[in-house]
Amino acid sequence: MSDISEIPVSNETRRDFLYVATATTGAVALGAAVWPLLDQMNPSADVLSAGKIEIDLSGVESGSRITLKWQGRPIFIDHRPEARIALAKADDNNPDLIDPATDAARTQRAEWLVVIGVCTHLGCIPLGQKEGEPVGQWEGWYCACHGSVYDTAGRVRRGPAPRNLDLPPYNFISDTLLGIG
Ligand code: FES
Repeated sequence: MSDISEIPVSNETRRDFLYVATATTGAVALGAAVWPLLDQMNPSADVLSAGKIEIDLSGVESGSRITLKWQGRPIFIDHRPEARIALAKADDNNPDLIDPATDAARTQRAEWLVVIGVCTHLGCIPLGQKEGEPVGQWEGWYCACHGSVYDTAGRVRRGPAPRNLDLPPYNFISDTLLGIG
């Protein structure tokens, strides 16, 4: 059996890694050549106090993963292509799920998975956001600290992590504008 840490990210899709230091609140525009663009929209005081961020997803290609920072924590956003969605849904009723949940229950729109990128074991940041990083056998994320593996719905498939990657509060303000917080 191969070492799971050596399983590379699939070459079928491009996975971008974009880490945005938005410690407070800002507007993030993701585009091919306009990165990063932070805090350009003078958010209102109430938005600032609520710690909300808005992210323009229009430049995030299908198959790409990006990372944002929200309230000091990494947020993983995965623009999932059909194959990755199908992989998640295929295991909705798998009796081996450690923390059972359907893919639909973990997403508001199937093509966008939004999770807090903190391993639910002891808080490491799982690998899988950068191209070439190990993602584990379920094509999601791999935590190198103690070997937990997550699938393409962010469900834990191998411990010691006890539960799925947590979901942040978020909403789609429009088809391409995501609000977190
Ligand atoms: S912190 Fe991720 S497996 Fe322990």
